[in-house]
Amino acid sequence: MVCRHNRELEALVQEAKKMTEKGKVADYIPALAESEKNSLSVTIYHAENTCLSAGDDDQTFTLQSISKVLSLALVLMDYGKEKVFSYVGQEPTGDPFNSIIKLETVNPSKPLNPMINAGALVVTSLMKGQSAKESLDYLLGFIRRLANNPEITYCKHVAESEFRSSMINRAMCYYMKQYDIFEGDVEEVMDLYTKQCAIEMNSLDLAKIGCVFALDGKHPETGEQVISKDVARICKTFMVTCGMYNASGEFAIKVGIPAKSGVSGGVMGISPYNFGIGIFGPALDEKGNSIAGVKLLEIMSEIYRLSIF
Ligand code: DON
Repeated sequence: MVCRHNRELEALVQEAKKMTEKGKVADYIPALAESEKNSLSVTIYHAENTCLSAGDDDQTFTLQSISKVLSLALVLMDYGKEKVFSYVGQEPTGDPFNSIIKLETVNPSKPLNPMINAGALVVTSLMKGQSAKESLDYLLGFIRRLANNPEITYCKHVAESEFRSSMINRAMCYYMKQYDIFEGDVEEVMDLYTKQCAIEMNSLDLAKIGCVFALDGKHPETGEQVISKDVARICKTFMVTCGMYNASGEFAIKVGIPAKSGVSGGVMGISPYNFGIGIFGPALDEKGNSIAGVKLLEIMSEIYRLSIF
């Protein structure tokens, strides 16, 4: 499927794009530093299987933290709320996504929510499969069904780059292992987590996944209930309270929709009017969210009255 370029949306992209000057691409994962700072694209996918796009929408990008909400959905469907929330909490932190501090200051040393790195690492450690490879195939199968795209895979270059450089994430795994919150083998989970974060797609795939959430887990094209209704509701709630990290409060006021960002510059948005939004703009603000992507969502929310509040 190819989306129609939309002139009205293109004008909004051009407006928001000015913000890229003030942002910076992520470089703590070396491969992400190669991204094109000034690019910005958006796709909107509606439940009636129509879509609109603007900007450089043929670009692909890695999901990074957007994958956290997808791994959470799968693990919640497999094990249920009680088990999953015995490993990870349900509260926002007010700290950066890779902060380690609350693991020590909050007892027991359980990560506060599944959207921060510590929480996502625990969720990934619970993924079904006898090996990291089996778990990755299982997760990829789920994501391919969400996007209705069998071609989706992960970017080896980005995965290896993060695997080599991700020492704080390793430290958090070991810290949690000390307190029996984390049961898996740290290197195996890091292998799976870095590949999960490196799953690659374009803004159309991402918008389609957003649309699945907008439809309470039902796929607009295949009609399959890919995510159970209750799990889709839980994921959307986490996206409102923690999806944009320690900017989630301001984002809720300015935009007011469930959304999840990644340090690659991807943002997935979910509208109550039955559509999903996929954005890619690699220049980030100081909290690690796409600076022009957030601006674009602010403009769109104001013009089209998207806020759920
Ligand atoms: O673990 C990390 O640091 C990255 N793979 C993902 C972090 C991320 O995307 C935070 N998002 N804004």
